[in-house]
Amino acid sequence: MMGSDIALDLGTSSVKIYVSGKGIVLNEPAVAAVDTYTDEVLAMGEEAYTMVGRTSERVRVVHPLCNGVISEYDLAEYIIGRYMKKISSSRVFMPRVVVSVPCEITEVEKRAVVDAISASGVRKVCLIEEPVAAAMGAGMEITEPHGTLVVDIGGGTTDMAVISLGGIAVSDSIKVAGDAFDEDIIKYLRRKYNLIIGQRMAEEAKKKIGCVVKRPDPVFFRVKGRNAATGLPAFIDMTGDEMLEAMQEPVQHIVRALQNLLEQTPPELMGDVYTDGAVLTGGSAQIYGMDQILSREAKLPVRIAEEPQVCVAKGAGYATKYIGAMDGEALTGINPLSAAY
Ligand SMILES: Nc1ncnc2c1ncn2[C@@H]1O[C@H](COP(=O)(O)OP(=O)(O)OP(=O)(O)O)[C@@H](O)[C@H]1O
Ligand SMILES: [Mg+2]
Repeated sequence: MMGSDIALDLGTSSVKIYVSGKGIVLNEPAVAAVDTYTDEVLAMGEEAYTMVGRTSERVRVVHPLCNGVISEYDLAEYIIGRYMKKISSSRVFMPRVVVSVPCEITEVEKRAVVDAISASGVRKVCLIEEPVAAAMGAGMEITEPHGTLVVDIGGGTTDMAVISLGGIAVSDSIKVAGDAFDEDIIKYLRRKYNLIIGQRMAEEAKKKIGCVVKRPDPVFFRVKGRNAATGLPAFIDMTGDEMLEAMQEPVQHIVRALQNLLEQTPPELMGDVYTDGAVLTGGSAQIYGMDQILSREAKLPVRIAEEPQVCVAKGAGYATKYIGAMDGEALTGINPLSAAY
């Protein structure tokens, strides 16, 4: 065999790679630290992530990807190349790749993604729409004439879609997800306590005690930063109720987007969706109460997928079995892949 098939999810927060026969083999922050004078890449992934908020004039930390779209081409190509090398054994040679892309991507953006991946020496690149991959990764049957609602709450964007017959019936994407929660936690502490904290501290607090419905038991997390007035180190013990308040606005955006999507959903599919409910994927699906609030506000059952953060990569991985059909191999039924290069 020439090589295995692999799948890539180029997320805003992290890059995930799936290898057929192995599963998820890499899940690393989609960040690089760059020397501002020489443009040399100093660190990537976990190592670069530890530098977030700790940079100097000499070093900047860059997120070259935004929800599957490339914002800094050279760095994206570099990161993809390095990660591909990291996972390749001698057997994974010139792989065929399925990559997930957002539904609203332009031709130019598609081309950039394909080129950045092709640069690392792959045989073929196929595209799959992200919500389709997310639903497949969550174990949903998507090629039937039946509506499936998937809501992927990632780092940079929340993507939601009703899928039927292997394609998107209606969809929406908003730039409100994990990062927006972190930013609002920062703003809240600044406003209430004059405490300035960094992005990573906010994310840590969110993961530990974040919630979008009231928690039954009291929880707290010590957030450390600097007092804005005195400039001195300071901390407060943030409570679950304070988190609930801090995280309200972004979650309301997500709720409204879901309600709007349901309003645009054709009646037959709507029937399916109300019976089966929605499936949540993406890292931010794990925020305490996310399933409850969406269920309450959209009035439908909601469940969180298993391993929500890697659903898109897993689904794109399952779709590698359709690559042959893009080359004209016989296929009965619907091909969830949307394009091949
Ligand atoms: N246990 C957790 N609780 C709450 N949030 C979490 C948890 N684990 C991860 N997250 C959040 O999930 C987000 C990352 O999710 P994910 O990996 O799905 O995003 P992505 O695919 O990189 O981004 P996008 O899909 O928006 O391009 C981050 O904002 C992170 O803080
Ligand atoms: Mg994602």
